[in-house]
Formats: sequence, C-alpha cells, structure tokens
Amino acid sequence: MKVLILAILGLELAHTLSYPGTETRPILSKSEASNYTKENYFAGWQPEEIIIPENPDYVVQQGQSIQAVVNKAIEQGNPAYRTYIKIEPGRYMETVYIKSNIPLTIYGSGKSAEDVHIMATLSAKTSTSDYIATVNPNGERYKEGEPAWGLYNSCATKHGGVIGTNCTAVVWVESDNFQLQGVTVHNGATDAQAVALRTAADKIHLMGNNFKSYQDTLALGIDSADSLKTERVMVHMCYIEGQIDYVFGAASAVFDMTTFYTVATNKTASAIILAPDTPPERSYGFLVINSIITGDSSYRNKVKLARSWDHGVASADLYTPGVSANGQLVVRDSNIDSVIDVLAPYGAAATSHREFTTDINVDRDLNDNNHNRLWEFNNSGDGA
Ligand SMILES: *[C@@H]1O[C@H](CO)[C@@H](O)[C@H](O)[C@H]1NC(C)=O
Ligand SMILES: *[C@@H]1O[C@H](CO)[C@@H](O)[C@H](O)[C@H]1NC(C)=O
Ligand SMILES: *[C@@H]1O[C@H](CO)[C@@H](O)[C@H](O)[C@H]1NC(C)=O
Ligand SMILES: *[C@@H]1O[C@H](CO)[C@@H](O)[C@H](O)[C@H]1NC(C)=O
Repeated sequence: MKVLILAILGLELAHTLSYPGTETRPILSKSEASNYTKENYFAGWQPEEIIIPENPDYVVQQGQSIQAVVNKAIEQGNPAYRTYIKIEPGRYMETVYIKSNIPLTIYGSGKSAEDVHIMATLSAKTSTSDYIATVNPNGERYKEGEPAWGLYNSCATKHGGVIGTNCTAVVWVESDNFQLQGVTVHNGATDAQAVALRTAADKIHLMGNNFKSYQDTLALGIDSADSLKTERVMVHMCYIEGQIDYVFGAASAVFDMTTFYTVATNKTASAIILAPDTPPERSYGFLVINSIITGDSSYRNKVKLARSWDHGVASADLYTPGVSANGQLVVRDSNIDSVIDVLAPYGAAATSHREFTTDINVDRDLNDNNHNRLWEFNNSGDGA
C-alpha cells in the first residue's frame, strides 16, 4: 500500500516538473525560458574578467584596517583607472564602507575565501549607541572628511533608537564597477536582519566569495523606489549562507555556479532563500543558473525557494499591480535538493503578506504584475 501511494506521489511530482507547472509551482517552457539569459539580465553589460595584478596598488595586512586602506585608495585614485587592493589572510573585525567613483578591485590572497574573514556583528535591533561603539570605537575608524564618512554618519545619527536593516552591512558598496574576489564577509548577528554585503551600485562583480549571516545576508540594489537606477550584479562561484530572505533586493542580478545554503540558526523561524523586490516595469530581477540549492539536513520539504518582497506595501489590499514592487526570479539549470518545499516552494510576499498566485494558462504573460513573477526551468535534484 505504502509503495503504491509513493509510486502515485512520484508520478504526480514528475508531472509538476513540466510546463506549465502547477498553481503553486509554475514551470517555464523552453521557449518562455529563452529570454532568461545573463545577456538579457545585464542589458549590454559584459562583466570584465577580474584580473589579479602582480603588483597591487595597495596591500592590507592582518592587523591593519581594510577601511583605512580603502579610504587612501579612493583619495589617491583616478576614475580612469582600476585600483587594486590585496588583502592578506587574516581576521578583520570591522565594517568597510565604500562610496567612490574609482573602479576598485578588492581581493583576498588566501588559498580559500575563508582565509580572509571580514566580520562584524550588527543587527537591525542594534542600538545606535552600540553601533557607534562597535563600528567607530573612540571615533578612530570613521572621521569627518574621509570618503566613508557620509555612509557612517547616516547610520550614527539615526533616530529611533535602533539602526535598522540598512545600517547592518559589514561591507557596504555604493561604488559602480566594483569587484570583490576571494573573501568571506560575515555578519555574526542571529536575532534579526543582519546584512553581510550591501550593494547599491551598478556593474558589481562578486567572484569566489563567501557571504554568511542569518537574515538578509546579501542586499543587492535595495532601492526599488528609485527604479530608474540600473543596478546590475554578477555573482559568480560564490557561497551564500542564511535562513530568512537571505538574498534580496531590486537589482538585476545573476547568480551563476553559486551555492545557496540554508542554515537552521533559529529552528522556530521560517526559512526562505530569495526575496526580490524588482520594480514592476523591470522584466529582469534575479536569475539563478547552474547553481546548487541546499541546506541544513534538518530541513526536509520546508525551505521556501523565494517570496516577493512587496517593498513599501503594508498589506495585501494595498498591492497595486504595475506600481508596487513585484519580485522577478527565474531559477534554471540548477540542482535543488530535498530541503525545498517541493509542492509549494514560494511563500506569501514579505511586508504585504500577499498570497502567492501565478498563471498556468499557455498564453500567459510572464510580466503580468497581477501575479507573482517567480519561475523555474530545467532544474534537477530531489527538490526539483
Ligand atoms: C522575449 O522578449 C522580447 C522582448 O522583450 C519579447 O518581445 C518576446 O515576446 C519574449 N519572448 C518570449 C518567448 O517570451
Ligand atoms: C534604506 O536605504 C535605501 C536606499 O538604499 C532607502 O531608500 C531606504 O529608505 C532606507 N531605509 C531606511 C529605513 O532608512
Ligand atoms: C526565533 O524565531 C521565532 C519566530 O520568528 C522568534 O519568536 C524568536 O524570538 C527567535 N529566537 C531568537 C533567539 O531570535
Ligand atoms: C538543463 O540544465 C543542464 C545543467 O543542469 C544543462 O546542461 C542543459 O543544457 C539545460 N538544458 C536546457 C534546455 O537549457
């Protein structure tokens, strides 16, 4: 009997794998999937290769401050040339804020990304006074007039007692043409939103890094209100760890050959991987391709692949198609293991709690903002 039920279930699951999918797990056809390529997400940008120079412009050694060297590189840099900063293996307990018009490449020189560990512990619930004491002890790390001062000061002067998600980033980049390779960025907070890397810029290239936190690990182009700003992000061969909405934002981002690992930090909280808040008129939000989706072995059929982040929409009835953010995501050509909720991999939207809906008619419009825009194509594995 058991075997028979399993066999029938198996057949059912096999059916959900193909176009057009189910009301809770839509699948693209080959022709529908044909537009969801790196080229379309990047609209003409071809990420430059990250070239490690024989003689970097700056070297950061264990015991030195990455922020201090970055400040110097920005002050002395020329916008016409790329500036290279090498970080020697070590543990760097600090935040790094980067706002400049200098194309910067920061890379770790360890054998693996873990060898260069950049870490801070800051959550959205951290008080402004604790933030100042942690990030800028004795006023020595951030000083007025330095390139990072504006970002730091916007958080240090925050009213309302706590710093909020925006100010939790360990590495915060508002600098176009930025490249980061071979480092680990780790936010140690486990009680609320705690960003490891935050980018609000265009032409960001992240290669061979580890990003670790619990909630909101990777914030990519989080300004969905400013939909005219192009924010393209390449995430190549990275490892991303978290539990709740741990990859989010409004950017057009491609995750290629990247591992998403869902940790079980808080066993009573939910587990959701991606939470895009793509502007409604933008067809390309997040693309996950040739990647691995896995997690803690205590999860079975539990983790949500994604939910839309209805940024700024307080309740479901206030969601306005074509006006409100509506996360766009395609997960394709990837391996999804059994941690994922197989029958219903998408959750109700964050912030608004709008229920997931999709269109499984054959003539569907993939950019119809009356529905979610969360799709899959050609995935394999026990959770696919
Ligand atoms: C691909 O995108 C183009 C331009 O946006 C659109 O005209 C076309 O219908 C799309 N193709 C599919 C199969 O969705
Ligand atoms: C967070 O930063 C974004 C800009 O990147 C801004 O639009 C938003 O209002 C900020 N949120 C808060 C609560 O300050
Ligand atoms: C774990 O998550 C639950 C549900 O969201 C929450 O009530 C609880 O405070 C969290 N525990 C910790 C230690 O943050
Ligand atoms: C399906 O994904 C595999 C990688 O898992 C890839 O080799 C293959 O080309 C993909 N097929 C299509 C039709 O895109």
